[in-house]
Amino acid sequence: MINHQININFNAYAALTELSDARHNLCLEAVKAMGNSHSPYSKFRVGAALRLQSGRIVYGSNQENVAYPSGLCAERVALFTWGANYPNDPIEAMAVTAQTDEFELLQPVASCGSCLQVLAEYEKIQRKPIEVILFCDNGTTWVMNGVESFLPFLFFENRLQS
Ligand code: THU
Repeated sequence: MINHQININFNAYAALTELSDARHNLCLEAVKAMGNSHSPYSKFRVGAALRLQSGRIVYGSNQENVAYPSGLCAERVALFTWGANYPNDPIEAMAVTAQTDEFELLQPVASCGSCLQVLAEYEKIQRKPIEVILFCDNGTTWVMNGVESFLPFLFFENRLQS
C-alpha cells in the first residue's frame, strides 16, 4: 500500500482592498453581475464575472426556474456565454460572489462540481489555467489557480476528443 498526499495551495485575503487592482475590479464586476440573479426559489444570489485577455468582461448570474433542475449556476451562465460568444479570447480569471438575506455568509462559496467540470473543459481548450477568485461580503477572498486546485482527480479523457 502506498499512501499519497495532495497539497492544495491558495491565497486567502481578509479584504478586497488587499487584492491587486485587476482582481479587485473583477470582484466589483461579479457584484454587478449578481444584480441580475433570478433566484426567487433559493433566495441565494450568485454573480460571476470573467476577465478575458482582451479586457472584456463576461457576466453571469444564477438563473432559477419553477422547474427547479432547469435553472443554472452563475458560473456556467458566464462560462457558456463565453463559449458561445468569445471562444477565441482566452479567459484569464473568474470572480464569484454570493449573497442571501436568509443567513450570514461567513466564507466564500465554492463553485459546484458541474461548474468546475465546465471550467476544466475551457481550461483545456485554451491550454491555460483560469484563476478563480471567490469572495463574500465580509471581504474574505480566496484566490485559486485553476480547476486543479478544486478537483485534482478531475475527469478528462483525451481519447474522447475528435
Ligand atoms: N449556485 C450558483 O450559482 N453557483 C454555485 O457555485 C453554487 C450554487 C446557485 C444555484 C442556485 O440558484 C442557488 O445558487 C442555490 O443553490
